[in-house]
Amino acid sequence: MRVGHLFLFAWVVVGGMAVAWSADSEVLRPRVPIDQMETARAMTNPFTVTPEMREKGKALFEGKAFCRACHGTDGKGLGMDLDYSTFKGPLPRNFTDKMWQQARTDGELFWILKNGSPGTDMASFIPLVLTEEEAWQVLTYVRSFGGR
Ligand code: HEC
Repeated sequence: MRVGHLFLFAWVVVGGMAVAWSADSEVLRPRVPIDQMETARAMTNPFTVTPEMREKGKALFEGKAFCRACHGTDGKGLGMDLDYSTFKGPLPRNFTDKMWQQARTDGELFWILKNGSPGTDMASFIPLVLTEEEAWQVLTYVRSFGGR
């Protein structure tokens, strides 16, 4: 009996870890295609990050760019008034996830705003909704959810 319990316990713990790991690794999996990664990573924010820049980014995030509809005012990826059962692909990114914040360079995030995340509800925003300068403002705000 005891051995059986121990086995069950180990199975639950290891199984649970596997589920947690696969969820994280799916979030951390790079979105930029491998052949574009070098160029994407070489791209850095050409603007100096200031509190004003972050404020402009917040206004865009909550205003015309409508990021908050999906990513939420708190950046946790659960926007208001959304029926998540209608999402075909992955849920919107939780920007407070520190592992994810660390895994991505600024250039990779900029690539996403240009290209979207193909096959998901994350669309491309440059140039139709955001200019490149506005995109860097909004990304400065996205970074602030990770404590930067
Ligand atoms: C219609 C819903 C929707 C809107 C509006 C939206 N997003 Fe997203 N976003 C998503 C989804 C879904 C994902 C997850 C895509 C994936 O896992 O590849 C995502 C992922 C992201 C990512 C993470 C990409 C990565 O490399 O992991 C960033 C950064 C991002 N969004 C920024 C923004 C910004 C900034 C805005 C506003 C300009 C915005 N999003 C608006 C749905 C949305």
